[in-house]
This record gives sequence, structure tokens and C-alpha cells, in this order.
Amino acid sequence: MFRRSLALCVLLLACTAGQALDRQPSEAYRARRLHLADELKGGVAVVFAAEQPLLDLTPYRQDEDFYYLTGWNQPGAALLVESAQSPRPYREILFLPTRNRHLELYTGVKLDASDPNAPRLTGVDEVRQVTELPGVLNELAQKDPSAVREIASQPDLAKARALATWLATTLGSDRAAPLTDIGALTMPLRAKKDAGEIALLRAASNASVQAQLAMMKAVHPGAKERTVAGVLIEKLMEEGCERPSYAPIVGSGANSTSLHYSDNSGTMQDGDVVVVDAAGEYSMYASDITRTMPVNGHFTARQREVYNLVLGAQRAAIDAFVPGKSRINDPRHKYPDSLDSIAFDYMNAHGKDLHGAPIGKYFIHGIGHLVGIDVHDPWDYSKPIEDGMVFTIEPGIYLPEEKLGVRIEDTFYVNNDGKLIDLTEALPKLPEEVEKIMRASESSQSAANSAR
Ligand code: GLY
Ligand code: MN
Ligand code: MN
Repeated sequence: MFRRSLALCVLLLACTAGQALDRQPSEAYRARRLHLADELKGGVAVVFAAEQPLLDLTPYRQDEDFYYLTGWNQPGAALLVESAQSPRPYREILFLPTRNRHLELYTGVKLDASDPNAPRLTGVDEVRQVTELPGVLNELAQKDPSAVREIASQPDLAKARALATWLATTLGSDRAAPLTDIGALTMPLRAKKDAGEIALLRAASNASVQAQLAMMKAVHPGAKERTVAGVLIEKLMEEGCERPSYAPIVGSGANSTSLHYSDNSGTMQDGDVVVVDAAGEYSMYASDITRTMPVNGHFTARQREVYNLVLGAQRAAIDAFVPGKSRINDPRHKYPDSLDSIAFDYMNAHGKDLHGAPIGKYFIHGIGHLVGIDVHDPWDYSKPIEDGMVFTIEPGIYLPEEKLGVRIEDTFYVNNDGKLIDLTEALPKLPEEVEKIMRASESSQSAANSAR
């Protein structure tokens, strides 16, 4: 019994791991490695791919920095980037894991480092066996000890630490080179998207818009939150996404006031609203969208009032955006001109809670975050948003006392002219538009029922 379920697990993982992704041209990844090399200032980086999870049903997802630098979506590899230090030239090597012919019966054939096509297929100058990695570093250390005085890598990974220890051993030293965080070097590179990345982010957003539209048609009193999450996931997959870019949030009634509610275990009730924060990942690039709807297709006066406040706050933030100046993710309002502060001030100026107090205090999270290979791409939010960046604007008001939460979220791109482009603008958000979509699905459902 155990053997059969183990085999089934491995087969399922093979299907998900083997799924082809849209790869950018190899030059795009090489350009990123060259940028990284500029930052290494004569030093080296070793970046490990994510491992295949073997004994659970978590689908394989590549390490974000490794994927950004290689576009290689297989487990067990490692990338070495040696920056030039005259007379030593730039060098890059992709190390592939030793093939396991038995496991390949389950996971499919893997690329052999000795395949003469390996450099062309991977787009990396040299491809070698991962077993050669310590030896290559040892040779480099002998030629130029300063190159490996520290290594940019993943300090949290046991194998990265083991490599540094083993390298020291091969050099007859008991002091391992310190590992610095590769993420500190890739963060500013990843923040500014190239044209190919924008195309993938657009594909993720287009698919997510379609999924949200399908979702709007599935919402009605009595619908289960989990069923609606399933509708979203089905549409995302149909539109070419490999998975949702985060656990879908479908929160109706009181659940609409929990920011990251993803239990999705409730049943939608007539008269409530539902917050649906759900989007997809297309070839490793995310989108992020939230819409809020009345479960029965008609906002009450108070729901409409709060909805319009959130929509107005989003509009105020969009209108106030200045590339190179505006900051986001400033929930404590340190910066009076951050988009958070703009939205917060708008809410306070235009709305009140049931006790007559300004409503801004119910906007309890940051207004947005960068989006990319991670739905929350890393960024230093003390810095402003610049050209080439992709980020969300997602104000929300959460009123537990009224069982009423409203969040509206779209994903934006700042183009090279500094113009803010809404990647998810095809998804309606005016309250009348949302109601109309829901009414259209109501009437098509009752037409289908009476035809039966
Ligand atoms: N979907 C998570 C977020 O909006 O940040
Ligand atoms: Mn978000
Ligand atoms: Mn979201």
C-alpha cells in the first residue's frame, strides 16, 4: 500500500514538474547574469535550484533567484557566476545533478551535463556535473584567493553552508568563507522588469482577469466559498497558468474582514459581500487581483458607500502616483505623500464608521507591494517606485462590526515613459458594472433552468 502511494506521489510530481513554461530568449537570462557579475566586483555567486519535494504532494516550484538568472526549471542544479577580475575573465557554469536512471522512470529523462547540446539548451556557457562544483571553486581559490573570500549564495541552505565548509577543507583551512545573501544583489535587478518579463506578467494578468470574471458568474447565495475558489483555479489553468500565484481568498460575510482568510470553508449568504483575492502565475510570473461583490448581485446602500470609498481611495492613489517619487507599503504613514497616506487621507475625508469616527483606521494594511516571480517580490520600501516596476494598489476597509470588508486590488506597471499602466484594467470594478455581470449570469442561469 505504501509503495503504491509513493509511486503515485512521484508520478503526480512528474506531471507538475515536467510542465513546460514559456522561457525568455537565453540572452535575457545571460544579461541578468552579467548584471549580477557587475555587482560581484571580482567575487563569485553560487545559486542553488530548488529541490524536488519527494514525499509530499507539493508541486515543484523553482527557486526564484535561480529561475531569474537561468530560466532553468529543473531541480538539483547550481549556477556559478565568476565576475571578471583582470586577467581572470567572466565565467558562468551551470552544474546539473547526476542523473538517476531509476528515478527518471518516474520523473522523465533529465538533461545530461555531458550532452554536447547542454550549453545551447540551457543558454549557459559551460555545463558540468554538480559533483565538480567544489573542485571548480578550489581551482579558482588557488588562482585568486580574493575571489572566494566571501560567496554570494543562499545562507539559509544547508548545502550552501556545506559547500563553503567543504571548500575550506579542500584548501586546508578550517575557516569557511562567509555566505552573503544573493537576494540582496538580485533584488534591485528583479525589481525592474524587462520587456519579456512584462509580457509574462501581462499573460498572468489576462488569465487572472478571465478567472475573476468566471468567479463573478459563480457567486450567488448558497454558493460555497470553496466551490468558487475551484472555479477560479479551473479557469486559471485553462488560461495557461501553472498554478494560482497564492492561495485564493474567498471570504464572504464576516470572513470578508479577515485579510488573508483562505480557509474558504463558508457558504455565501444573501445580503453579504464577498472579497475574492485570487490570481494566477503564468510561467513563474504572478498577478494579484481582488474584487468585492454583493453575494446577491445588489449592493445595499451602506455596502455601496464603503465600496465607493475604497474605489475612490484607489483612484486617488493612482492619480497621485509620480514615478521616482511615490512610495508604497507605508502602513504607518511615515511618508505623507506615499500612496498609502494618499488613500488613508481620502478615506478619512470621505467616510465614517457607525460611530461617526473617520473610517481610515479600518485600512489596516499596506497599499501594495512589488509583483514578479514572487507575488510579493522583494523590495526596500523606503525607496520610491521607478520605471520598469510592477506593483499593486490595493486599498481596503474592514469593518467587523458590520460584517463588511471591501478590498479592490489591481496590478500596475510603470512603463519606460513613467506612465502607470493597469495590467488588470479589463476587469470591471465600478459597482454598477460588477452588479451587471452578476445579473447577466443570474438571468442566463434562470434561462437554463427553465429550458430544462
Ligand atoms: N494576495 C495577497 C496580497 O494581495 O498581497
Ligand atoms: Mn497584493
Ligand atoms: Mn491580493
